[in-house]
Amino acid sequence: MREQLEAIRSRALAELADDADAQQIEAVRVRVLGRAGELTEIMRGMREVPPEQRPAIGQLINQIKRELEERVAFLQAQAQRRAMEQSLATERLDVTLPGARVVRGRLHPLTQVAQEMIGLFAAMGFEVVDTQDLDDDFHNFSALNFPPDHPAREMQDTFFLPGGLLLRTHTSNGQIHVMQNRRPPLAVICPGNCYRRDELSVRASPMFSQIEGFMVDRAGAITMADLKGVLSVFLRGLFGPETKVRFRASFFPFTEPSAEVDISCRLCGGSGCRVCKQAGWVEILGSGMIHPNVLRAVGYDPGEYQGFAFGVGIERTALLKLGVDDMRLFFENDLRFLEQF
Ligand code: PHE
Repeated sequence: MREQLEAIRSRALAELADDADAQQIEAVRVRVLGRAGELTEIMRGMREVPPEQRPAIGQLINQIKRELEERVAFLQAQAQRRAMEQSLATERLDVTLPGARVVRGRLHPLTQVAQEMIGLFAAMGFEVVDTQDLDDDFHNFSALNFPPDHPAREMQDTFFLPGGLLLRTHTSNGQIHVMQNRRPPLAVICPGNCYRRDELSVRASPMFSQIEGFMVDRAGAITMADLKGVLSVFLRGLFGPETKVRFRASFFPFTEPSAEVDISCRLCGGSGCRVCKQAGWVEILGSGMIHPNVLRAVGYDPGEYQGFAFGVGIERTALLKLGVDDMRLFFENDLRFLEQF
């Protein structure tokens, strides 16, 4: 039994070499010192040892056990230290290195201006209704009192599609759709894209956006004074309380009387400059009292209902509001431009 113990001891010590790794150490520990290990096995065999030899054998077992436990503990600690040194040497992390910054996005300047415009009308009780870009001649032209030979209906101005459809040339089709489906009182704005066969330039784009607005109620309830009031509140809200607003007689087939609306030039304050071409005023939108023929086209009796309408270009408004001098900048998506807003 003594020889057996010595054999276990020397084999274990040989295996528990200085360069043993954690796995090897653990394997020896389990095999020799474990619950069902070699030393436990020997203890079980003590019954067969003559009683007078038992104390000496017992002592030897304990001595070997302690010795191997110490060796295992020493090697485990050493393996741990080595693993730490290894990872410190190879997985070096420089916490002083600046991190990769996440660039925070923002709304496109056109979206910012559109939201502000919509917000001003919403604050006056206007409801926002989305209407279609793809439409027919009736909603874009006929119902809006365009005569059959009006130049806007020519191929060179409008994108016509096969099957008689077209891309709306203004958001005024929104008036027709909403009024066809509902009855006054109505206070509605229809923001959306419009399309015209224009070359992309400093002042124009084949695709642009407008906000259409209209208010209709019993005849006599909504007058030109309401039109002036609503549009003045809108324009002063957008361009500042000192802004002067001018209503200038004009013509649209779908309104009578019609007015184009100018604001005092923001750059020179009205004295005349390059932006306003020395006029002191810049045109901002079209408006008027809804033409009786338009009311008839949607099945309203013009003797019963009356209202006003307006249409305002979002790009044009953004150019003036943000002081940008080229509409193409809104569509190029050059970050050097976009990041300024
Ligand atoms: N639809 C006109 C345009 O595109 C604007 C407008 C709308 C004018 C409503 C008067 C009333 O220029």
